[in-house]
Amino acid sequence: MKVDQDKLNAFLMKFVGDFGAALHASTVLVGEKLGLYKALAEGNGLSPAELAGKTRTMERYVREWLSAQAAAGYVMYDSKTSKYSMSPEQVFTLADEKSPAYLPGAFYIAASMFKDEAGITEAFRTGKGFGWEQHSTDLFQGAEKFFRPAYAGNLVSSWLPALDGVVAKLKNGAMVADVGCGYGASTMIMAEAFPKSRFVGYDFHKPSIDYARKMASANHLSDRVSFEQAKAQDYPKKDFDLVTFFDCLHDMGDPAGAAKHVRQSLKPDGTWMIVEPFANEKPEENYNPVGRVYYSASTMICTPASKAQEVGLALGAQASDSQLRQVIMSGGFKTFRRATETPFNRVFEAKP
Ligand SMILES: C[S@@+](CC[C@H](N)C(=O)[O-])C[C@H]1O[C@@H](n2cnc3c(N)ncnc32)[C@H](O)[C@@H]1O
Repeated sequence: MKVDQDKLNAFLMKFVGDFGAALHASTVLVGEKLGLYKALAEGNGLSPAELAGKTRTMERYVREWLSAQAAAGYVMYDSKTSKYSMSPEQVFTLADEKSPAYLPGAFYIAASMFKDEAGITEAFRTGKGFGWEQHSTDLFQGAEKFFRPAYAGNLVSSWLPALDGVVAKLKNGAMVADVGCGYGASTMIMAEAFPKSRFVGYDFHKPSIDYARKMASANHLSDRVSFEQAKAQDYPKKDFDLVTFFDCLHDMGDPAGAAKHVRQSLKPDGTWMIVEPFANEKPEENYNPVGRVYYSASTMICTPASKAQEVGLALGAQASDSQLRQVIMSGGFKTFRRATETPFNRVFEAKP
């Protein structure tokens, strides 16, 4: 075997980048939890001691953390003043929870993948699943923190309007089921935007439903939103105008069973909205940075989650439009189309 020195060096540099990113991820969690990014964003250039003072943390730790952030390009350093600050883009993505591109939630998901790795490695050997509910709480929190900004930025402004006639129904007062709702971010965003409609969020994971209920009450939305523990294949109510599935169909063991159930829970003119991670038709068309994120999460979270349920179809987070079409149409739907997309999401519409 002859190793090409230039290619080896290039690969080693790529690895250093990846290794640094993996290690740096934990420092992002520290910064998020302690409010370091937020305090730095509010200051007009801060020394480590000033940032430590504002956040009631220890200067020596904060100094090291700031150097890690500066080396990563997550904060800026001014060698003339020896102070640290953040660019508008760094503030937008790391310090502003209301921004549609608030990113730190991503690393809660990464943390859960590390914490749960031994169980997944074992699942490779046994072929058994590793259920959503078996994961560290970091995953549930991370999913909410990471997905909510994208939903806040896209759902009401562009995803729902891409569906045929749905916004008009929501404005007039519609019945909506948000299935696999997790912590209920999408449910509550829709409920805030459409006060005449009524929303029920279903998820089979009890701790998520408990959390969502608390948030609905804290956000004064309990008059129009309820959360109930139920599976996608047998949630109780019917006659919905709209059923939504956000980033959960591929996690299910029996997505075809879910499709059948959605079909019979919809009014004849109802709509099923399915949001799935962005993917192209062929696996090799997803061998890129976005595909890397999704295939990695799919290996450690989505595929084992599906394998842990009945049927265990394991669509994976990069299931193609054709694969999804087959599953969805098997539920008795007449039409299926990709209604819109972002670089990270596909939004589908299915109608009975
Ligand atoms: C990746 S999370 C998405 C959560 C939420 N929709 C969001 O976008 O933030 C997948 C969710 O699907 C739920 N789930 C998976 N299989 C389910 C099933 N068969 N029935 C109901 N919920 C299910 C999980 O409990 C989890 O909350």
